Amino acid sequence: MIGRLNHVAIAVADLEKATSTYRDTLGAEVSEPQAEPDHGVTVVFVNLQNTKIELLEPLGENSPIAKFLEKNPSGGIHHVCYEVDDIIAARDQMKAMGARVLGDGEPKIGAHGKPVLFLHPKDFCGTLTELEQA
Ligand code: CO
Repeated sequence: MIGRLNHVAIAVADLEKATSTYRDTLGAEVSEPQAEPDHGVTVVFVNLQNTKIELLEPLGENSPIAKFLEKNPSGGIHHVCYEVDDIIAARDQMKAMGARVLGDGEPKIGAHGKPVLFLHPKDFCGTLTELEQA
Protein backbone atom coordinates (compact mmCIF):
# COMPACT_ATOMS: atom_id res chain seq x y z
CA MET A 1 0.00 0.00 0.00
CA ILE A 2 2.73 2.49 0.84
CA GLY A 3 4.43 4.27 -2.02
CA ARG A 4 7.59 6.36 -2.14
CA LEU A 5 9.69 7.29 0.84
CA ASN A 6 8.75 10.97 1.11
CA HIS A 7 11.29 11.95 3.76
CA VAL A 8 13.32 10.91 6.75
CA ALA A 9 13.11 13.44 9.60
CA ILE A 10 16.15 13.94 11.80
CA ALA A 11 15.76 15.87 15.06
CA VAL A 12 18.69 18.13 15.86
CA ALA A 13 19.53 20.50 18.70
CA ASP A 14 21.52 22.88 16.48
CA LEU A 15 19.95 23.42 13.06
CA GLU A 16 22.76 25.62 11.75
CA LYS A 17 25.35 23.00 12.55
CA ALA A 18 23.23 20.21 11.07
CA THR A 19 22.62 22.26 7.91
CA SER A 20 26.34 22.82 7.55
CA THR A 21 26.97 19.09 7.94
CA TYR A 22 24.58 18.27 5.10
CA ARG A 23 25.58 21.22 2.88
CA ASP A 24 29.33 21.41 3.43
CA THR A 25 30.42 17.93 4.52
CA LEU A 26 27.95 15.84 2.51
CA GLY A 27 27.59 18.34 -0.35
CA ALA A 28 23.80 18.26 -0.46
CA GLU A 29 21.37 20.92 -1.62
CA VAL A 30 19.65 22.45 1.42
CA SER A 31 16.77 24.92 1.80
CA GLU A 32 16.56 28.02 3.95
CA PRO A 33 15.25 27.32 7.47
CA GLN A 34 11.46 27.39 7.57
CA ALA A 35 9.64 28.07 10.85
CA GLU A 36 6.58 25.87 11.37
CA PRO A 37 5.04 27.28 14.56
CA ASP A 38 1.95 25.07 14.24
CA HIS A 39 4.20 22.00 14.35
CA GLY A 40 6.67 23.31 16.95
CA VAL A 41 9.70 22.95 14.70
CA THR A 42 11.98 24.84 12.37
CA VAL A 43 12.75 22.75 9.28
CA VAL A 44 15.55 22.65 6.75
CA PHE A 45 14.83 20.47 3.72
CA VAL A 46 17.74 18.51 2.27
CA ASN A 47 16.84 17.70 -1.32
CA LEU A 48 18.26 14.41 -2.53
CA GLN A 49 17.70 12.86 -5.93
CA ASN A 50 15.29 10.23 -4.68
CA THR A 51 13.89 11.64 -1.42
CA LYS A 52 14.29 14.36 1.21
CA ILE A 53 15.84 14.61 4.61
CA GLU A 54 14.12 17.03 7.00
CA LEU A 55 16.29 18.50 9.72
CA LEU A 56 14.01 19.47 12.62
CA GLU A 57 14.95 21.85 15.42
CA PRO A 58 12.55 22.53 18.30
CA LEU A 59 10.58 25.79 18.07
CA GLY A 60 8.68 27.20 21.05
CA GLU A 61 7.80 25.80 24.45
CA ASN A 62 5.94 22.60 23.67
CA SER A 63 7.84 21.26 20.71
CA PRO A 64 6.89 17.65 19.95
CA ILE A 65 10.59 16.84 19.42
CA ALA A 66 11.86 18.30 22.73
CA LYS A 67 11.55 15.03 24.66
CA PHE A 68 13.20 13.08 21.87
CA LEU A 69 16.21 15.41 22.00
CA GLU A 70 16.39 15.07 25.78
CA LYS A 71 16.83 11.33 25.23
CA ASN A 72 19.02 11.77 22.16
CA PRO A 73 21.09 14.90 22.79
CA SER A 74 23.23 14.48 19.68
CA GLY A 75 20.09 14.15 17.54
CA GLY A 76 18.70 11.16 15.71
CA ILE A 77 16.16 9.82 13.26
CA HIS A 78 12.79 11.00 14.52
CA HIS A 79 10.44 9.52 11.92
CA VAL A 80 10.09 8.22 8.39
CA CYS A 81 7.34 9.32 6.02
CA TYR A 82 5.75 7.17 3.32
CA GLU A 83 3.40 8.37 0.63
CA VAL A 84 -0.06 6.91 0.20
CA ASP A 85 -2.69 7.60 -2.46
CA ASP A 86 -5.64 7.80 -0.08
CA ILE A 87 -4.90 8.60 3.54
CA ILE A 88 -8.35 7.71 4.86
CA ALA A 89 -8.27 4.29 3.18
CA ALA A 90 -4.71 3.77 4.47
CA ARG A 91 -5.72 4.76 8.00
CA ASP A 92 -8.71 2.46 8.01
CA GLN A 93 -6.61 -0.44 6.79
CA MET A 94 -3.92 0.23 9.43
CA LYS A 95 -6.56 0.33 12.16
CA ALA A 96 -8.16 -2.86 10.88
CA MET A 97 -4.72 -4.50 11.19
CA GLY A 98 -4.52 -3.35 14.82
CA ALA A 99 -2.11 -0.45 14.37
CA ARG A 100 -2.53 2.63 16.52
CA VAL A 101 -2.99 6.02 14.88
CA LEU A 102 -1.72 8.89 17.03
CA GLY A 103 -3.84 11.88 18.10
CA ASP A 104 -7.53 11.90 17.31
CA GLY A 105 -6.96 9.72 14.26
CA GLU A 106 -7.94 12.44 11.82
CA PRO A 107 -5.41 13.60 9.19
CA LYS A 108 -3.79 16.98 9.81
CA ILE A 109 -2.20 19.28 7.28
CA GLY A 110 1.53 18.66 7.47
CA ALA A 111 4.56 20.80 6.70
CA HIS A 112 4.07 20.30 2.94
CA GLY A 113 0.42 21.40 2.96
CA LYS A 114 -0.81 17.81 2.50
CA PRO A 115 -2.80 15.56 4.86
CA VAL A 116 -0.65 13.46 7.21
CA LEU A 117 -1.10 10.94 10.01
CA PHE A 118 1.35 9.46 12.49
CA LEU A 119 1.42 5.81 13.50
CA HIS A 120 2.57 4.50 16.85
CA PRO A 121 6.26 3.54 16.86
CA LYS A 122 5.58 0.38 18.88
CA ASP A 123 3.49 -0.95 16.00
CA PHE A 124 6.14 -0.14 13.36
CA CYS A 125 9.47 -1.60 14.41
CA GLY A 126 10.17 1.08 17.00
CA THR A 127 9.97 3.86 14.41
CA LEU A 128 7.51 6.74 14.43
CA THR A 129 5.90 6.46 11.00
CA GLU A 130 4.16 9.24 9.10
CA LEU A 131 1.81 8.72 6.18
CA GLU A 132 1.32 11.55 3.71
CA GLN A 133 -1.28 11.67 0.98
CA ALA A 134 0.85 12.42 -2.05
CO1 CO B 1 7.53 14.38 8.59
